[in-house]
Amino acid sequence: MAAGGRPEEIGSEMIRYYAARADEYDDWYLRRGRYSHGPANDASWRSDLEVAAAWLDGRGFRGQIVELAAGTGWWSPLLARHGQLTLYDASAEPLEKARTRLAAAGVTAEFQIRDAWREPDRSVDGLFAGFWISHVDRDRLDEFFGLVARWLVPGGLFAFIDSRQDPESGARDHRPPVEDVQVRRLDDGASFRVRKVFYEPSDLASALERAGFSEIEVVTTERFFVLGSGRRR
Ligand SMILES: C[S@@+](CC[C@H](N)C(=O)[O-])C[C@H]1O[C@@H](n2cnc3c(N)ncnc32)[C@H](O)[C@@H]1O
Repeated sequence: MAAGGRPEEIGSEMIRYYAARADEYDDWYLRRGRYSHGPANDASWRSDLEVAAAWLDGRGFRGQIVELAAGTGWWSPLLARHGQLTLYDASAEPLEKARTRLAAAGVTAEFQIRDAWREPDRSVDGLFAGFWISHVDRDRLDEFFGLVARWLVPGGLFAFIDSRQDPESGARDHRPPVEDVQVRRLDDGASFRVRKVFYEPSDLASALERAGFSEIEVVTTERFFVLGSGRRR
């Protein structure tokens, strides 16, 4: 692989990266520091974020909801207002940020360290994954959507929000991925490799169909995000 690294190496490097990035992760959402791209681009970003939040809020989540690779929990207060939310992530550091965010929002949830690839231990009514699908290798996308289907009761809702490729999305000092591997830097200069796949909406819709979802919707915001959902048949 030109950009270097076997999938399992990239997978563990990615976990270390997000643990180390926990304190600065929200700078990306908030367009702070290296993630600011000037007033016009930052306004477009905020507008797209609002569209994504309204879209997620309107999906119809209810009952038991699982959030995989929940990170610092940017979307979690919104989800927790719709049902009983459990946040899972591979690392403690981002989950601690999420815990603080949910407490500040006055909503309750469960938190657990858990790999997103682990088999479900129960069936739930809804599952959300934010900016995780783009970290799934192309040759494992069907496997992951199959796993999501196994988490859900029949009729259960799956939704995801993820990245479209845009030069003004990431940090100013990040280059685009090469062969789906991207080098990410932190404020202190440390660098890590992550898997980053910009899936076409049509490919995501086809994969959802193959995994047994119905009522499939995969749409994009103006510039930055792809929004997808479906119900387990
Ligand atoms: C791009 S962040 C997304 C965080 C959050 N979902 C959001 O929308 O802002 C990716 C998250 O995946 C987590 N992660 C990485 N590998 C994982 C794995 N194998 N299982 C579970 N979580 C993992 C990281 O710790 C990080 O919090």
